[in-house]
Amino acid sequence: MSIFRKAYSVVGAILMLQFLAQLYFIAAAIFTIVNANDNAKDVYTAFKSADNFAGLHTLNGDIIGLTILVMIGLSFGSRYPWRTTILTGVLFVLLVIQVLLAHTGIPALSGLHGLNALVMIGLGGFLTGRNWAFRPQTEGTAAAP
Ligand code: HEM
Repeated sequence: MSIFRKAYSVVGAILMLQFLAQLYFIAAAIFTIVNANDNAKDVYTAFKSADNFAGLHTLNGDIIGLTILVMIGLSFGSRYPWRTTILTGVLFVLLVIQVLLAHTGIPALSGLHGLNALVMIGLGGFLTGRNWAFRPQTEGTAAAP
Protein backbone atom coordinates (compact mmCIF):
# COMPACT_ATOMS: atom_id res chain seq x y z
CA MET A 1 0.00 0.00 0.00
CA SER A 2 2.87 2.33 0.86
CA ILE A 3 4.37 1.93 -2.62
CA PHE A 4 1.03 3.04 -4.13
CA ARG A 5 0.98 6.07 -1.82
CA LYS A 6 4.52 7.01 -2.81
CA ALA A 7 3.63 6.54 -6.48
CA TYR A 8 0.54 8.76 -5.99
CA SER A 9 2.83 11.49 -4.59
CA VAL A 10 5.38 11.16 -7.40
CA VAL A 11 2.69 11.25 -10.10
CA GLY A 12 1.04 14.20 -8.29
CA ALA A 13 4.36 16.08 -8.38
CA ILE A 14 4.68 15.29 -12.10
CA LEU A 15 1.14 16.65 -12.58
CA MET A 16 2.16 19.93 -10.96
CA LEU A 17 5.15 20.18 -13.34
CA GLN A 18 2.79 19.48 -16.26
CA PHE A 19 0.53 22.31 -15.05
CA LEU A 20 3.54 24.67 -14.99
CA ALA A 21 4.51 23.60 -18.51
CA GLN A 22 0.89 24.16 -19.58
CA LEU A 23 0.98 27.79 -18.39
CA TYR A 24 4.40 28.30 -19.99
CA PHE A 25 3.33 26.93 -23.42
CA ILE A 26 0.21 29.06 -23.68
CA ALA A 27 2.02 32.21 -22.49
CA ALA A 28 4.78 31.58 -25.07
CA ALA A 29 2.10 31.20 -27.79
CA ILE A 30 0.46 34.49 -26.79
CA PHE A 31 3.79 36.37 -26.68
CA THR A 32 4.75 35.03 -30.11
CA ILE A 33 1.62 36.75 -31.46
CA VAL A 34 1.73 40.02 -29.50
CA ASN A 35 5.43 40.53 -30.31
CA ALA A 36 4.78 40.39 -34.07
CA ASN A 37 5.32 43.50 -36.19
CA ASP A 38 2.08 45.19 -37.17
CA ASN A 39 1.79 43.98 -40.77
CA ALA A 40 -0.15 41.14 -42.35
CA LYS A 41 2.87 38.99 -43.29
CA ASP A 42 4.52 39.15 -39.85
CA VAL A 43 1.24 38.60 -38.03
CA TYR A 44 0.56 35.54 -40.23
CA THR A 45 4.06 34.18 -39.55
CA ALA A 46 3.63 34.82 -35.82
CA PHE A 47 0.33 32.89 -35.77
CA LYS A 48 2.03 29.99 -37.57
CA SER A 49 4.88 29.97 -34.99
CA ALA A 50 2.45 30.30 -32.09
CA ASP A 51 0.76 27.14 -33.39
CA ASN A 52 3.82 25.15 -32.24
CA PHE A 53 3.43 26.32 -28.63
CA ALA A 54 -0.36 25.95 -28.76
CA GLY A 55 0.14 22.41 -30.12
CA LEU A 56 2.42 21.61 -27.18
CA HIS A 57 -0.28 23.00 -24.84
CA THR A 58 -2.86 20.69 -26.42
CA LEU A 59 -0.52 17.66 -26.37
CA ASN A 60 0.48 18.29 -22.75
CA GLY A 61 -3.22 18.76 -21.90
CA ASP A 62 -3.98 15.29 -23.27
CA ILE A 63 -1.06 13.79 -21.31
CA ILE A 64 -2.39 15.54 -18.18
CA GLY A 65 -5.59 13.51 -18.71
CA LEU A 66 -3.56 10.28 -18.63
CA THR A 67 -1.64 11.46 -15.55
CA ILE A 68 -4.89 12.11 -13.69
CA LEU A 69 -6.28 8.68 -14.69
CA VAL A 70 -3.11 7.06 -13.30
CA MET A 71 -3.62 9.04 -10.05
CA ILE A 72 -7.19 7.75 -9.78
CA GLY A 73 -5.89 4.16 -10.11
CA LEU A 74 -3.14 4.82 -7.55
CA SER A 75 -5.68 6.36 -5.16
CA PHE A 76 -7.64 3.08 -5.29
CA GLY A 77 -4.41 1.08 -4.83
CA SER A 78 -3.42 3.25 -1.86
CA ARG A 79 -6.82 2.63 -0.26
CA TYR A 80 -7.10 6.32 0.34
CA PRO A 81 -10.40 7.54 1.83
CA TRP A 82 -13.22 7.83 -0.75
CA ARG A 83 -13.01 11.60 -0.45
CA THR A 84 -9.47 11.57 -1.91
CA THR A 85 -10.38 9.19 -4.75
CA ILE A 86 -13.54 11.15 -5.56
CA LEU A 87 -11.65 14.48 -5.53
CA THR A 88 -9.04 12.94 -7.88
CA GLY A 89 -11.96 11.94 -10.12
CA VAL A 90 -13.28 15.52 -9.90
CA LEU A 91 -9.88 16.64 -11.24
CA PHE A 92 -10.53 14.50 -14.34
CA VAL A 93 -14.05 15.91 -14.73
CA LEU A 94 -12.54 19.43 -14.56
CA LEU A 95 -10.14 18.46 -17.37
CA VAL A 96 -13.07 17.32 -19.53
CA ILE A 97 -14.76 20.68 -18.80
CA GLN A 98 -11.44 22.35 -19.71
CA VAL A 99 -11.49 20.71 -23.17
CA LEU A 100 -15.17 21.64 -23.69
CA LEU A 101 -14.46 25.27 -22.69
CA ALA A 102 -11.67 25.44 -25.30
CA HIS A 103 -14.25 24.67 -28.03
CA THR A 104 -17.32 26.77 -27.20
CA GLY A 105 -16.67 29.21 -30.04
CA ILE A 106 -17.74 32.02 -27.68
CA PRO A 107 -14.59 33.82 -26.42
CA ALA A 108 -16.34 35.24 -23.33
CA LEU A 109 -17.32 31.68 -22.34
CA SER A 110 -14.06 30.02 -23.38
CA GLY A 111 -12.30 32.52 -21.09
CA LEU A 112 -13.54 30.38 -18.19
CA HIS A 113 -10.82 27.93 -19.39
CA GLY A 114 -8.30 30.25 -17.65
CA LEU A 115 -10.30 30.26 -14.39
CA ASN A 116 -10.91 26.50 -14.47
CA ALA A 117 -7.13 26.14 -14.88
CA LEU A 118 -6.67 27.86 -11.50
CA VAL A 119 -9.20 25.53 -9.87
CA MET A 120 -7.42 22.49 -11.37
CA ILE A 121 -3.99 23.67 -10.20
CA GLY A 122 -5.38 24.40 -6.72
CA LEU A 123 -7.09 21.01 -6.42
CA GLY A 124 -4.05 19.16 -7.85
CA GLY A 125 -1.76 20.96 -5.39
CA PHE A 126 -4.12 20.25 -2.50
CA LEU A 127 -4.37 16.51 -3.29
CA THR A 128 -0.62 16.15 -3.81
CA GLY A 129 0.34 18.16 -0.71
CA ARG A 130 -2.30 16.66 1.58
CA ASN A 131 -1.37 13.08 0.65
CA TRP A 132 2.41 13.56 0.42
CA ALA A 133 3.87 10.15 1.31
CA PHE A 134 7.49 11.21 1.86
CA ARG A 135 6.99 13.14 5.11
CA PRO A 136 9.09 11.74 7.95
CA GLN A 137 6.70 10.07 10.36
CA THR A 138 6.58 11.75 13.73
CA GLU A 139 5.99 9.69 16.86
CA GLY A 140 2.35 10.72 17.15
CA THR A 141 1.51 9.65 13.59
CA ALA A 142 3.82 6.62 13.30
CA ALA A 143 2.02 3.42 12.39
CA ALA A 144 1.79 0.80 15.12
CA PRO A 145 4.34 -2.03 14.68
C1 HEM B 1 -4.47 23.61 -15.75
C2 HEM B 1 -4.09 24.28 -16.81
C3 HEM B 1 -4.61 23.99 -18.20
C4 HEM B 1 -4.99 22.81 -18.76
C5 HEM B 1 -4.99 21.44 -18.12
C6 HEM B 1 -5.38 23.10 -20.12
C7 HEM B 1 -5.84 22.15 -21.02
C8 HEM B 1 -6.09 22.40 -22.34
C9 HEM B 1 -6.43 21.38 -23.31
C10 HEM B 1 -6.57 19.89 -22.99
C11 HEM B 1 -6.60 22.01 -24.49
C12 HEM B 1 -6.91 21.34 -25.84
C13 HEM B 1 -8.36 21.19 -26.10
C14 HEM B 1 -8.49 20.35 -27.35
O1 HEM B 1 -8.41 20.93 -28.45
O2 HEM B 1 -8.68 19.14 -27.23
C15 HEM B 1 -6.37 23.40 -24.30
C16 HEM B 1 -6.45 24.37 -25.27
C17 HEM B 1 -6.26 25.70 -25.06
N1 HEM B 1 -5.95 26.31 -23.87
FE1 HEM B 1 -5.59 25.39 -22.13
N2 HEM B 1 -5.25 24.44 -20.35
C18 HEM B 1 -4.78 25.02 -19.20
C19 HEM B 1 -4.52 26.36 -19.00
C20 HEM B 1 -4.73 27.34 -19.93
C21 HEM B 1 -4.55 28.75 -19.70
C22 HEM B 1 -4.12 29.36 -18.36
C23 HEM B 1 -4.85 29.38 -20.87
C24 HEM B 1 -4.84 30.84 -21.21
C25 HEM B 1 -4.83 31.81 -20.33
C26 HEM B 1 -5.20 28.38 -21.83
C27 HEM B 1 -5.57 28.62 -23.13
C28 HEM B 1 -5.85 27.66 -24.08
C29 HEM B 1 -6.10 27.94 -25.48
C30 HEM B 1 -6.08 29.32 -26.14
C31 HEM B 1 -6.35 26.72 -26.11
C32 HEM B 1 -6.66 26.46 -27.59
C33 HEM B 1 -5.34 26.13 -28.27
C34 HEM B 1 -5.55 25.79 -29.74
O3 HEM B 1 -6.69 25.56 -30.15
O4 HEM B 1 -4.54 25.70 -30.45
N3 HEM B 1 -5.12 27.15 -21.22
N4 HEM B 1 -6.07 23.62 -22.98
